[in-house]
This record gives sequence, structure tokens and C-alpha cells, in this order.
Amino acid sequence: MALKVAVVGCGGVARGSHLPAWKKVPDIELVALCDKDKARADAAVAQFGGKAYYDLEEMLDKVKPDIADVCPREPDHCAPVVITLGRNVNTIVEKPMFCKTNQLAVQWSDLKEAKKMLDAWKKSKAKLAMNFNYRHSPHGKRMKQLIESGELGKPVAIVVHAHLWCWSHVIDLMRWFMGDVVELGAAVSGIPNQMERSAWLKFKNGCTGSITGTWHSSMTHAPLRIDYTGDKARATMYNLSGSIEVYGHGGPSIPGGPVDKKIEVFGDGVRSEFGVNSFIGSLTAFSRAVREGAEYAPSGLDGYRELEIDAGIFKSAETGESIKFKV
Ligand SMILES: NC(=O)c1ccc[n+]([C@@H]2O[C@H](COP(=O)([O-])OP(=O)(O)OC[C@H]3O[C@@H](n4cnc5c(N)ncnc54)[C@H](O)[C@@H]3O)[C@@H](O)[C@H]2O)c1
Repeated sequence: MALKVAVVGCGGVARGSHLPAWKKVPDIELVALCDKDKARADAAVAQFGGKAYYDLEEMLDKVKPDIADVCPREPDHCAPVVITLGRNVNTIVEKPMFCKTNQLAVQWSDLKEAKKMLDAWKKSKAKLAMNFNYRHSPHGKRMKQLIESGELGKPVAIVVHAHLWCWSHVIDLMRWFMGDVVELGAAVSGIPNQMERSAWLKFKNGCTGSITGTWHSSMTHAPLRIDYTGDKARATMYNLSGSIEVYGHGGPSIPGGPVDKKIEVFGDGVRSEFGVNSFIGSLTAFSRAVREGAEYAPSGLDGYRELEIDAGIFKSAETGESIKFKV
């Protein structure tokens, strides 16, 4: 039987990505679209079908969905998620998990609200998932396969550079590839709400790394670069276009020497393919986990860990001390 899906929040990302994606997810029925703004809910229903609701609790009572896809802006994530989980509705929420002011200036106090979602999840019979859809990008999946295949050897270090536009996604990818961060130290510069930021990181697996985020990078250039070093080889991914390059350690000792292998993911500059497809991947994987009663990642805990790193960078820069995480 098809799973009943309700979408909460019918703004830009819902209409541009989630709703077109849900139309392509197998074995689901898009039953309800809810927005506090009546015009937005009505417009979304006219385009994608389902029934319009303007109040979340009324929608949950009437529809009893199997899945709620929570798409408001980040200051409005906590209340709906606590409500959907309180009614044992499997919930997937947009990234970042929570922030009160601006997602480019996540505060340590934002973790308190995010924790409320984890507490609601603990009491619920339902799943809590994050829509970190970059895990479903062609580059993200290929890089993860490379790491897991053992071709790069045992993990050694990771270097990340990203436009702040995709900041929370890139922190999530870094954790996905290297695991939990146990300590970081950071510095920030620039203007409020767009601050450049750099951190050194220590991972639970004993490896080290660094991450830099900037607003000052051309959007025509790859918005993120992840360089993963294993003890056999190093791989660099340039999302959202181009190839993944693999450099074996046994090759020429000249820095910048020949690339051992180029994995063509798709042609340079092809961004549109990544867009909705990664949402289809994320929502399909979550609905499958719900149907099969299987564990799902990225979970609410992955959302919380990502937010901790984001907030920890500002806290470290402010206090001048490193931040340790209990993971
Ligand atoms: N995964 C991605 O790649 C990606 C891309 C873009 C945006 N996002 C994220 O998506 C989220 C939404 O961004 P947006 O640009 O669509 O925002 P938006 O402001 O365009 O839309 C949010 C909508 O949610 C509605 N809303 C708020 N609280 C509600 C509630 N309790 N019940 C029902 N409706 C409610 C608002 O009325 C509004 O229509 C943000 O967290 C953003 O960071 C993710």
C-alpha cells in the first residue's frame, strides 16, 4: 500500500524541489500540503495535487500521514517536528536542523532547540531524518563508494573548502566520509551573518582535518571541494560538476603530478542533473526505510552533530578555546 505523505511548508524549496521530487518517488501518495500561508498552500495543491491545509495539527488529525516532510525555514523547524513526532509520524526535516536568526550564523544556543527535537524523537515511535540531499548527489555517492571500497586505504586526513551557500551540507558530507568530530578550534573574520570561517578538526577515528567556509567565491566555480587522504591514495571531489580525481601515493613525487585516475561523474558545469535528482534520492531512501522499518541515516542525530560543529566554530572563535564534543 502506498505511504501517505504530507508536506509542511510550501515555500521555495518545497515547490522547487521536494514536491517535484515526491511526484517521482515510488509507492507514495502525496495526500496533503500544508502552509500557514493559505495562498501558498493553495498554489502548491493546484500544481502538485493533494489537499490543502493551513494548520498542521488539523492536517495531522484528518490525514494521519505516514510521513511528514517538514520544509519551513530553520527558525520554524522545531515546533512542527515536535508535533509530528509527538503523533508518531515519521519525519524528515530540511537542513540545517535549527537556527534562530540566520543559517550562516548558527549560535550555540540554537542547540537547545535542536535538542528538543531529539527529545521528542526519543519519546516517539517514529523516525527522525534530515534532508541532507548532497549525500544523494552523484559525486557524494561516488566518493563514499571510493572510501568504503578500500581503494584509498585507511583514513588519514580530510581538507574541505566550501561556499557558505552549501555550508551545512558540506559539514554533513565531511562527517559522512570521516566520522564524528571530537574537537575543533576555529577563527572567523568578515561581516556579521556572512563570516568567513576556518577550523582545524580532530575526528573520533584519530584523524585530523580542516574546513573553511567563505561567501567570497564565484558561483561559477565548484562550490565545494573535499580532499580525502587515505594511506594508499588521495581523492578530490569538486561538487557539483566535473570529475573525482584520485592520486596514488606511489606515483611521481612532484607536487601536482599526474592524476592517476579521473572518475567522470558527469560533464563539467552540469548542475541541473544534481538538483531535483538528489531530492528524489533522499526522499526515496527515507520512504523505503519507513516502509521496511529499517534504520535511516542521515538521522536527527546527524542533524544535531552537524549543527554542533557549525555552532562550535563560532564558539571557539569567540572564546579562543577549542571545543570538545561528547560523541
Ligand atoms: N536541501 C537543500 O539543498 C535546500 C535548498 C534550499 C533551501 N533549503 C532549506 O529549506 C528550508 C525552507 O526554505 P525556503 O526557501 O523554502 O523557505 P520559504 O520561506 O520560501 O518557505 C517556508 C514556508 O514554510 C511555511 N511555514 C512556516 N512554518 C510553518 C508551519 N508551522 N506550518 C506550515 N507552514 C509553515 C511558511 O509560511 C513558508 O511558506 C530552509 O531551512 C532552507 O535552508 C534546503
